Amino acid sequence: MAGEDQLFQRFGREFAKGSVLFKEGEPGKEMYVVQSGKVNITKAVRDTEKVLATLGPGEFFGEMSILNNKPRSAGAVMAEDGKLLVIDPRTFEAMIRGNVEIAVRLIKKLSDRLQETDDQVENLLLRDFNSRVVHFILQQANRRGKQTPQGTLVAMNLAELHSRMGLLAEEVTEAVQKTAKAKIIAVVPEGVVVPDVNKMQKYLEFLEMKERFGES
Ligand code: CMP
Repeated sequence: MAGEDQLFQRFGREFAKGSVLFKEGEPGKEMYVVQSGKVNITKAVRDTEKVLATLGPGEFFGEMSILNNKPRSAGAVMAEDGKLLVIDPRTFEAMIRGNVEIAVRLIKKLSDRLQETDDQVENLLLRDFNSRVVHFILQQANRRGKQTPQGTLVAMNLAELHSRMGLLAEEVTEAVQKTAKAKIIAVVPEGVVVPDVNKMQKYLEFLEMKERFGES
């Protein structure tokens, strides 16, 4: 797209994997749009860094502190080499005021994020790590799963699951193995495949019942 090239000429910058774009708590000076590569949005929880989201091409971040004049709500680190548009507050505001389509996209994206946060709250209320892992994979399958002949693919490996959920690596591995043994998921090189999401939902309800009433 010619427009995209022009935008890159004006606002584009390249960043290497591992570059820290900003840290949680800093004042916000600009917002970013991902053109290529991936960015991790991170939050320090006790002494570990939890990945709240991994953003890819077409997605944006860093807009919140510009809109609400509060410190950065999370940090941002390049998860891969990539190209980003770096947009200052005045240009950002002019873009929103001058283009209804951009404003609508922004509102839709913020609604998606709120929905994901609600999902995370629901996930944290589950009692055991097994149910939490099953719930998380199911939500990901419903929200951004890719249809394949084997079922719905969630492109996420164990390390990503572990950092997104704030569980121990062993807990995630154990839960994934148990769920795969019950044939609710299959582990594949690209991530995890859910052959039947309805069956997975029922399995989650079963796990919750078991947790609540115990095994007899
Ligand atoms: P800001 O607070 O300026 O800096 C951190 C940015 O991370 C924030 O703006 C959002 O753009 C982004 N962000 C915060 N929380 C989430 C989340 N749960 N999912 C995706 N992006 C987020």
